[in-house]
Amino acid sequence: MRVVVDGEPRELRTVWLEDGAVKLIDQRRLPFELRILEARDLEEVAQAIEDMAVRGAPAIGATAAYGLALAHLQGKDLKEAADRLRKTRPTGHDLFHAIEYILQAAEKGEDPRAAAERYADEDVARCRAIGVAGAKLIREGTRILTHCNAGALATVDIGTVMAPLRAAKARGRRFFVYVSETRPRLQGARLTAWELAQEGIEHAIIVDGASGHFLARGEVDLVLVGADRIAANGDTANKIGTYAKAVLAKENRVPFYVVASTSTIDFSLPSGDKIPIEERSPQEVLHFEGTLAAPKESPARNPAFDVTPAKYIKGIITERGILPPGQLARLRAPPRRARAPARPRKARRKRD
Ligand code: MRU
Repeated sequence: MRVVVDGEPRELRTVWLEDGAVKLIDQRRLPFELRILEARDLEEVAQAIEDMAVRGAPAIGATAAYGLALAHLQGKDLKEAADRLRKTRPTGHDLFHAIEYILQAAEKGEDPRAAAERYADEDVARCRAIGVAGAKLIREGTRILTHCNAGALATVDIGTVMAPLRAAKARGRRFFVYVSETRPRLQGARLTAWELAQEGIEHAIIVDGASGHFLARGEVDLVLVGADRIAANGDTANKIGTYAKAVLAKENRVPFYVVASTSTIDFSLPSGDKIPIEERSPQEVLHFEGTLAAPKESPARNPAFDVTPAKYIKGIITERGILPPGQLARLRAPPRRARAPARPRKARRKRD
């Protein structure tokens, strides 16, 4: 993504490995400050994921991949490093997918660093393909509602929900995005709005509770959300508040799409009720900008994700096309390669 650092435009990814450190855009400081955090060992990488300096399922996956590469460079045991990373955040599937990817590559004798670089490049390629697949849903004047941040910051680059938006914008289409602020950590207001502003896409931030209002008034044509883990039947865990939007979209006959890379699909879970839901600190709910915003004797609950049943989802936009949730099983098989054109037959030599 193109960003301005110290007044200079730079092309940055969300996370990369350089000079013996995993470097990442510190998302806790955006949109006010663009600061690069340097995680110098495996523990600092794990803490960056836990404290949400880096967040968004695919970005967490790539950070874990680089974290394992760093651990290997520093002579650490890969399996122990993987165990530590698996404990950071439980809901997003990409974390576990990326860890397996690197462990398997290492078992086959590949350098974990090379495998991590390939993992990150593949994530970018998937997002680019998602953009091509999803852009056809965005026409001139389409009004889109989104939640949380499924942009470049939530992936290695480009984003999932942001990919079709970027592709549609590149094709010269004008459209409008309602960004729900996403309490309690404001990924919508702070991060998605920042990405849209950088891209010059028209948008407005709304409070989470306003989604029903705009859906009921016919002011939303399409809902696009990301995903943290998709079960085999299409049930989808995403940022808390997604489920309410899906139900409201169906009630108001507005198509609701999940936009995700196949790395987010967990075929080992038949349905969404087994997806582990992270419960974060109540302090995130009770405090606003560091100030207590509730009676000091009141407790709070803070589930970070909810599960939207597949019946509310019209389609899942992946790098392999748009599928109804009931047809996800088709993605279990590896993509079919384009057939090589038939070679012209050699003229038979005449026997003499
Ligand atoms: O708690 P977060 O900020 O990591 O949650 C992120 C989301 O819920 C995103 O919507 C999801 O990871 C999709 S990112 C392409």
